[in-house]
Amino acid sequence: MNEILQRLCRIGIVPVLSVEDAEKALGLANALSAGGLPAAEVTFRTQAGEESIRQIAENCPQVLVGAGTILNVEQCRRALAAGARFIVSPGYNEALVAYCLEQGVPVIPGCATASDLGRAVSAGLDLVKFFPAEQAGGLPLLKALAPVFPRLGFMPTGGISIKNLSDYLGYDRVRLCGGSWMAKSELIQGERWEDITTLCRQAVGTMLNFSLQHVGLPCGSADAAAGTAQAICRLFGLDYRQGGSSDFAGPFVECCKVDMPGTNGHIAIGTPDVDRAEFHLGLEGVEFLEHTRKVDNNGRTKAIYLKQTFAGFSIHLMRK
Ligand code: 3PG
Repeated sequence: MNEILQRLCRIGIVPVLSVEDAEKALGLANALSAGGLPAAEVTFRTQAGEESIRQIAENCPQVLVGAGTILNVEQCRRALAAGARFIVSPGYNEALVAYCLEQGVPVIPGCATASDLGRAVSAGLDLVKFFPAEQAGGLPLLKALAPVFPRLGFMPTGGISIKNLSDYLGYDRVRLCGGSWMAKSELIQGERWEDITTLCRQAVGTMLNFSLQHVGLPCGSADAAAGTAQAICRLFGLDYRQGGSSDFAGPFVECCKVDMPGTNGHIAIGTPDVDRAEFHLGLEGVEFLEHTRKVDNNGRTKAIYLKQTFAGFSIHLMRK
């Protein structure tokens, strides 16, 4: 997948913005990025859309800005000239997609039917906007369509909110979601930047959905790990499970046979998408131990340790 699209997928949520006054664009972009969402799909639905993209592209390098509601090649050219790094359209427009592919510009066309999706596959795209997601049939429709097109990733947009965000992101064919719920026009017009930042933070928190999975005890040998795990299982009525490098007492105590990062042990924090969590923690300056990364057959990270330790405990992220 194209690098810009990959970055959008890591960010996980793209705010869809209708800006009426380009003077608000910078305040808005800064509010989004302060809330942990350094991306913006600025729609061409308003007169100020084009100039807003220019303002953000020129002054907020940390924000990945693209153009939305692009209906034809002419609008696309203007959006690109203003600095848009990706193009989103509400429907599937052959000429627009062909133009973007020729120019090497990432394009995410709107698709809501099998015919649209078939065109996207023929064009060689790997990411489409499922639009209007809720109104068209929501997750049940997406789950009926997606298996027919196994190469495509989806960006549901339209009716997404804090309430259904986790449901959409929980479907593994959904690579990111788009929506306007964190930056409605009234909030932008009223320059309510703190409210927008708070709504973005809430969205990021819901998306990352961190929770404690297990603690790891450094037992030092296979025998000690088995003995410790069995003792804990007896006391608390847990199931004993033998593994390669560690044994488990129930799901939440890992007794390690070999050395792992953390002198006192480790804490495993679960999240639905480790690569995305890594990106967001990275925005906060968190660093990771690359040699601890475990990936699945699709190249997606299953687990990775943070560099920093806490009171002698290391922390690793794991997919839940
Ligand atoms: C779009 O243009 O992508 C949609 O208008 C966004 O939909 P929402 O306002 O329901 O989030």
